[in-house]
Amino acid sequence: RTNPLVLGIETSCDETGIGIVRGTTLLSNTIASSMDEHARYGGVVPEVAARAHLEEMVPAIHAAVAEAGIRLEEIDAIAVTSGPGLAGALMVGVGAAKSLAVALDVPIYAVNHLVGHVGADLLRGDGVTEDAPLEYPTIALLVSGGHTSLLLVRDLVSDVELLGETIDDAAGEAFDKVARVLGLPYPGGPQIDRVAATGDPNAIRFPRGLSHQKDVAKHRYDFSFSGLKTSVARWVEQKGDAGETVPINDVAASFREAVVDVLLTKAVAACTDLGVPRLLLGGGVIANARLRQVAQERTDAAGIALRIPPLSLCTDNGAMIAALGAQLIMAGHAPSSLDFGADSTLPV
Ligand code: KG4
Ligand code: ZN
Repeated sequence: RTNPLVLGIETSCDETGIGIVRGTTLLSNTIASSMDEHARYGGVVPEVAARAHLEEMVPAIHAAVAEAGIRLEEIDAIAVTSGPGLAGALMVGVGAAKSLAVALDVPIYAVNHLVGHVGADLLRGDGVTEDAPLEYPTIALLVSGGHTSLLLVRDLVSDVELLGETIDDAAGEAFDKVARVLGLPYPGGPQIDRVAATGDPNAIRFPRGLSHQKDVAKHRYDFSFSGLKTSVARWVEQKGDAGETVPINDVAASFREAVVDVLLTKAVAACTDLGVPRLLLGGGVIANARLRQVAQERTDAAGIALRIPPLSLCTDNGAMIAALGAQLIMAGHAPSSLDFGADSTLPV
């Protein structure tokens, strides 16, 4: 069927995201974040996130429905993130989605969070740039506090391949941890971006994880950020031990450069190796000013078309999940049976 009205529920991390779409038209995108509650721990606390989802869920659904200007009874289907993500957090979303589907007597579609990030690029509506539609195949680089993945998307609803991912920390997590080392508040990404603006990105040569020839053979499209984080921590500690002041701006700029360099080197390599002249970015770290700049420079140089959805659709949200659900329906996929569960390690 064409242009189904779909409500999407996303609770894989700390954002309670409810989105409503009609086909590829964005009607509403409500996000309640428990970020503030995690700030004093310096990272997302799974139990705290799950409880917050439970509190935010019903108000967020009401807000999204009101914003979309529809009645709940008009919804044709529910889409929900069933993984990957934090198990307890996912369970709240899956439980709410099933309840709603049963109450409204509509089909439910369990979808993959990472594929949802790609679906974000399909949405059109107020405040969303009218680009040409997403073309396939495309490489997608998804970078957030919870994941760092490189996908080959031949078809959104039937053919998505994971090329590589982080083998330890996510890139956003590295930003958060390095910010902490530098005495900057959580979340660290925007703080690092801010202080790095006046720093020298070439002041310190921090390591680019899994970029040596011996690593590349086995981990060509994988990422590693924990060595980088340790390297920054050690560098800062040694300065402190020597009684010298730490040049925070230079450290932040050099760290940011290392992350951006390795992310784009690998993403562009995937495009070149596989002959795919399209790169889509997604995830909260896409807010990074230097990442966006270097992505533009390197894709221009390599003749790759770069796509970056609006930031409100790059960070975790329910609209991208609804968009993917709508695609599944329009492609004639059968709904999920109601016995699916949350799967924290769900493969693409
Ligand atoms: O996608 P997102 O909103 O959701 C979660 O992963 O929960 O991503 C949040 C992550 C955090 O780690 C945050 O520090 C990072 O994205 N981030 C950034 C920037 N803005 C947010 N990292 C680097 N530079 C930024 N400007
Ligand atoms: Zn995400």
